[in-house]
Amino acid sequence: MEITNVSEYEAIAKQKLPKMVFDYYASGAEDQWTLAENRNAFSRILFRPRILIDVSKIDMSTTVLGFKISMPIMIAPTAMQKMAHPEGEYATARAASAAGTIMTLSSWATSSVEEVASTGPGIRFFQLYVYKDRHVVAQLVRRAERAGFKAIALTVDTPRLGRREADIKNRFTLPPFLTLKNFEGLDLGKMDESNDSGLASYVAGQIDRSLSWKDVKWLQTITKLPILVKGVLTAEDARLAVQAGAAGIIVSNHGARQLDYVPATILALEEVVKAAQGRVPVFLDGGVRRGTDVFKALALGASGIFIGRPVVFSLAAEGEAGVRKVLQMLREEFELTMALSGCRSLNEITRNHIVTDWDLPHPRPLPRL
Ligand code: FNR
Repeated sequence: MEITNVSEYEAIAKQKLPKMVFDYYASGAEDQWTLAENRNAFSRILFRPRILIDVSKIDMSTTVLGFKISMPIMIAPTAMQKMAHPEGEYATARAASAAGTIMTLSSWATSSVEEVASTGPGIRFFQLYVYKDRHVVAQLVRRAERAGFKAIALTVDTPRLGRREADIKNRFTLPPFLTLKNFEGLDLGKMDESNDSGLASYVAGQIDRSLSWKDVKWLQTITKLPILVKGVLTAEDARLAVQAGAAGIIVSNHGARQLDYVPATILALEEVVKAAQGRVPVFLDGGVRRGTDVFKALALGASGIFIGRPVVFSLAAEGEAGVRKVLQMLREEFELTMALSGCRSLNEITRNHIVTDWDLPHPRPLPRL
């Protein structure tokens, strides 16, 4: 059956992958309320399209941290992609590069920064988890820099791993034929089996729970790369990120895998954009599956979006061709959305092209009789 939209890859991945792997990719934390909300919240935003504008030429290109890309649709870091397909992160890197967009490589990739760099040219960011052992962190950042990565996406929402019950039930662990390649030589590449989620135990053992704003400054002393703070959901933290020297903010709830009952990212976006006051670009990830979602995020002030699960699901289904297709489908849908709302370039997308349910006056409760 022909695939006509991004979401369809999930069912194919479910058929193809071992249950432990599919559940790891698909799951959210606890009740998975935020997981559903990340998608559902997009339906609280409707379009106010403009008509009779010459849309025979549409330019979707943009610049992120000074790097020109073909569209504001980028790839979020997702761990352990070789569980989805033998080519794993290589396939993702090639697909991103072919689409003229940015791939973010996870710290917990099953391919190293050097291996991914060797797939060919491409603009790539490196996602960083801060380990207790800061030598490990400094070394890894240096390797990413040397391998030509252009920015660090510092994940700040994971002092501990969220409670993902499917992973606990499945005793999730990295299959024995794979390693967290960036840490292989450091004796941190394997994940022990445990009577819990193997990843949760790994995080508890290795990741620094004491991480704080001063470490964002510390990171700037060990690298010249711009730092994107990934996992901001409030205006307060947006202001602190700017003060701490962040080059950009990613509004993210980690694909609903950390704290459950945080709002959908598309609902948190506008307060972060307002607090950033244009001082740094603000990006969004979480639940983006349609070109219309991309448009809505840009209309609320995002400079671009990242996709997570669609990459691992399409990778499982069709390898590199699948990831290419996901990027192509989102690109075409986004272009169509721009045309049908009367926008020819990204800077023509405005807040007035959408109306949200929080723009409408609140219905008042009826007075008691
Ligand atoms: C992630 N995410 C993530 N984030 C991060 O900073 N480092 C990581 O290693 C991972 N790994 C990871 C694995 C899997 C399987 C998923 C689904 C997610 C979070 C990711 O970067 C992003 O925030 C979300 O995936 C975006 O939401 P969607 O597009 O999956 O709905």
